[in-house]
Amino acid sequence: KENGFYEQLEKTAVVPVVVLEKVEDAVPMANALVKGGLPAAEVTFRTAAAADCIREMSEKCPDILVGAGTVVNLEQCKRAVEAGAKFIVSPGYDDAIIDYCLENKVNLIPGAVTPAELTHLINRGFDITKFFPANLYGGLKATETLSAVFVGHRFMPTGGVNLENLPEFLGSKSIIAAGGTWMVKPALFADGDFSKVEEMTAEAAAVVKKVRG
Ligand code: 3PG
Repeated sequence: KENGFYEQLEKTAVVPVVVLEKVEDAVPMANALVKGGLPAAEVTFRTAAAADCIREMSEKCPDILVGAGTVVNLEQCKRAVEAGAKFIVSPGYDDAIIDYCLENKVNLIPGAVTPAELTHLINRGFDITKFFPANLYGGLKATETLSAVFVGHRFMPTGGVNLENLPEFLGSKSIIAAGGTWMVKPALFADGDFSKVEEMTAEAAAVVKKVRG
């Protein structure tokens, strides 16, 4: 939550979860997201190119908030930060990652879906956690029930979020921002043309404007 990160996340409202196989795609992807109106990217460590893509975006695209996603161990976390990631997202949590991020003032969104996991993360100082896979762990019903008990806690749901259910998610107080891959699926830019990404990003940005103002 350093440097107004939670406020920035709330304003961004939708975080595109990006899977990039090729470093050459990093800058065009960032440009399409910025032009479409969602200037944020969670670049996932599901590919070998992740750290290099983060470096490219953070060096060449000053208008985008670049973070790392699917970070599951400390080594990936350190590589992401070294490459310029401004935030780290984990589908679950790992105390070594938490220790490192707290010591180095790195913004971290760890993942939790159960009351026990949430208790642990709240006791470690987190007011915001990732809720993944949201569609399988109860969606909005679950986040709203958990927020009522863990008063004031808010979630970033991912997993099954799409243009159709986005208004519902963003309309809930239990949600700070939603994430997803639907506007950045590899098939949309397989030919190197990012106009479809930009178009679908703009559709999501329009929903943000309508629901959040
Ligand atoms: C994530 O890493 O958060 C998920 O891949 C997002 O899920 P989605 O592909 O259903 O959007």
